[in-house]
Amino acid sequence: MKKFCHLLFPTLLLLGIFVPYSLSSTTRRFEFSVEWKNVTRLCYTRPILTVNGQYPGPTIIVHEGDNVEVKVTNRVAINTTIHWHGIRQYRTGWADGPAYITQCPIGTGKSYTYKFTVVDQRGTLWWHAHLSWQRATVNGAFIIYPRMPYQFSAPIQDEIPIMFGEWWNLDVMAIEKYMMLTGDGPNSSDAYTINGLPGPLYSCSLKDTFIQTVEHGKTYLLRIINAALNDELFFAVANHTFTVVEIDAVYTKPFTTKAIMIAPGQTTNVLLTANQKPDHSGMFVMAARPYLTSVFPFDNSTTIGFLKYIKTTKTETIQPPLPPYTLPDNLPPMHDTVFATKFANKLRSLGSADYPCNVPKTVDKKVFTAISLNLQDCPANETCKGFRNKRFLASMNNQSFIRPSTSILECHYKNLTSANLFSNFPEKPPFPFNYTGVDPVAENMNTKFGSKLLVVPFGTKLEIVLQDTNFLNPENHPIHVHGHNFFVVGRGFGNYNPLKDPLHYNLVDPPERNTVAVPMGGWAAIRINADNPGVWFVHCHLEEHTTWGLAMGFIVEGGKHPSQCLVPPPDDLPPC
Ligand SMILES: *[C@@H]1O[C@H](CO)[C@@H](O)[C@H](O)[C@H]1NC(C)=O
Ligand SMILES: *[C@@H]1O[C@H](CO)[C@@H](O)[C@H](O)[C@H]1NC(C)=O
Ligand SMILES: *[C@@H]1O[C@H](CO)[C@@H](O)[C@H](O)[C@H]1NC(C)=O
Ligand SMILES: *[C@@H]1O[C@H](CO)[C@@H](O)[C@H](O)[C@H]1NC(C)=O
Ligand SMILES: *[C@@H]1O[C@H](CO)[C@@H](O)[C@H](O)[C@H]1NC(C)=O
Ligand SMILES: *[C@@H]1O[C@H](CO)[C@@H](O)[C@H](O)[C@H]1NC(C)=O
Ligand SMILES: *[C@@H]1O[C@H](CO)[C@@H](O)[C@H](O)[C@H]1NC(C)=O
Ligand SMILES: *[C@@H]1O[C@H](CO)[C@@H](O)[C@H](O)[C@H]1NC(C)=O
Ligand SMILES: *[C@@H]1O[C@H](CO)[C@@H](O)[C@H](O)[C@H]1NC(C)=O
Repeated sequence: MKKFCHLLFPTLLLLGIFVPYSLSSTTRRFEFSVEWKNVTRLCYTRPILTVNGQYPGPTIIVHEGDNVEVKVTNRVAINTTIHWHGIRQYRTGWADGPAYITQCPIGTGKSYTYKFTVVDQRGTLWWHAHLSWQRATVNGAFIIYPRMPYQFSAPIQDEIPIMFGEWWNLDVMAIEKYMMLTGDGPNSSDAYTINGLPGPLYSCSLKDTFIQTVEHGKTYLLRIINAALNDELFFAVANHTFTVVEIDAVYTKPFTTKAIMIAPGQTTNVLLTANQKPDHSGMFVMAARPYLTSVFPFDNSTTIGFLKYIKTTKTETIQPPLPPYTLPDNLPPMHDTVFATKFANKLRSLGSADYPCNVPKTVDKKVFTAISLNLQDCPANETCKGFRNKRFLASMNNQSFIRPSTSILECHYKNLTSANLFSNFPEKPPFPFNYTGVDPVAENMNTKFGSKLLVVPFGTKLEIVLQDTNFLNPENHPIHVHGHNFFVVGRGFGNYNPLKDPLHYNLVDPPERNTVAVPMGGWAAIRINADNPGVWFVHCHLEEHTTWGLAMGFIVEGGKHPSQCLVPPPDDLPPC
């Protein structure tokens, strides 16, 4: 089938037969230069990896249907890649970006132009580096304007990207190296940031405070992105509510909420109406702090910024107010699983005539995967600094994913089979156990290493149940799927029950997204229309868990029709 795909594709292009990849006439071009830049926060100056010297990086703005070309030039002595998080990359997996999954990295002094089309998506996404922990500082918003008017009624005065991140006073890439070397956990970040600014609750940080001006009576669209490495976040603005209208670039049924929970990798568009009567300062505090579900050390600090009511839009330099600061009382406390659950339960696809909810009502294949942290026995000739002097790892169905030293997509396309790479990913745990019971196999928390892949035919309606476990501790895991959106048809606490739980699935208007926050000590069932041929990374978007192997790859084979096959690799695809 693969050969068939390769031969026919160019012919069809010449004949002008429907190929989404080349449909649109507008091409938007961007240039990204990956370079070091000295940046100071909290009185610590250090070189951070950036795009074009900007932190956060430049915002990409395109329209639904546009062709996009981003020429990325690597001007540093380390490898890099860029991922366009949430972009479907229909048939253009070569441009997806995860290192060693869809491409070899862009080497020093080299360039690679990511070419793709934004098909049938509109809203807020983002981009970030996809090699080691580079995405800590190499990230930015990716905004897609819709072809049709916005599907919410309020007139929008302005649109405001709000990107959360984490700041380390020391070298963030050294943290990953240290983890891999010693088996220990990572150092927590020193601050959370709003658009790169930690705000005045941190020492030496008053001048680095995010302030957004608003006019009384006007409504604003906040495009909120969680680019933090390791932390789910709560976010609220004092005395104001949000109306959620979109998640992960998919419209939702609007609902009003006092705050949001947003996991790393997720985006949330909300409307905020400036309808309050401010005091003389004109300021309202906005705040983000973690939704903490781990018992291990985490950054438990809070970042704040301000909403400032002004009479006219004329620009003036606005100084942040001096302390004391009162956190919004609508900001959930750090362990508020009740709020996180209620919030997730309110998310529903819009499901309108123009934007139908295409959830698969039936499935062709079901996969059940236990997600766990692991403690690997320390080899006799090494010293391990993880818990119990072992090595921290993580896995899916007891498989810790190892990135190969070549591009899996390239091997797949060229039909290069290598024994270790393409053996089947286990579609259920090696043996069933009480996943959310107390450390079921506390004596043996070892895992297996490999690069096993789940392979499905084109068009498979796939269900994956993601089951959290109590290994070490139950934790909320944001699982991200590349190349596809999916539908979150069910969620719950405890062990998934294959007989009872499917009876309660939402097959009418489940939320459609690219990253699901699997409940702590619970499960989430997602359904995927596997209609995008290629190799796709599935992983926890807590970067430390990806480092430990909480990942898998899945291959969607080409279909019968040439328009259901991968396009050929670009000429400038980096070699390994
Ligand atoms: C950052 O500052 C250090 C110390 O002043 C300097 O040696 C280094 O060249 C600077 N790096 C960049 C990328 O500007
Ligand atoms: C972790 O933090 C400690 C204490 O601040 C510091 O001494 C150590 O160098 C840090 N490790 C890394 C890898 O940054
Ligand atoms: C904002 O909310 C707080 C707490 O509910 C309240 O004390 C305060 O008066 C409110 N401020 C304004 C300006 O409405
Ligand atoms: C954050 O964690 C530290 C150390 O674990 C603890 O001392 C501190 O009280 C915590 N702060 C908050 C706000 O919970
Ligand atoms: C420990 O031994 C194994 C197996 O012989 C070897 O692969 C590994 O490199 C050794 N580790 C160290 C730190 O020497
Ligand atoms: C491609 O892979 C398939 C399945 O592994 C194998 O049967 C076939 O012979 C391969 N084709 C080529 C040209 O290597
Ligand atoms: C799993 O373990 C938990 C905690 O010990 C217990 O409450 C629950 O009943 C167990 N479930 C099953 C199916 O055994
Ligand atoms: C995972 O694999 C390791 C290594 O083979 C094994 O010792 C362990 O029992 C397995 N654990 C589970 C939960 O399957
Ligand atoms: C960059 O990637 C290439 C291809 O995988 C690899 O051979 C090389 O060692 C890497 N370079 C660095 C500095 O890590």
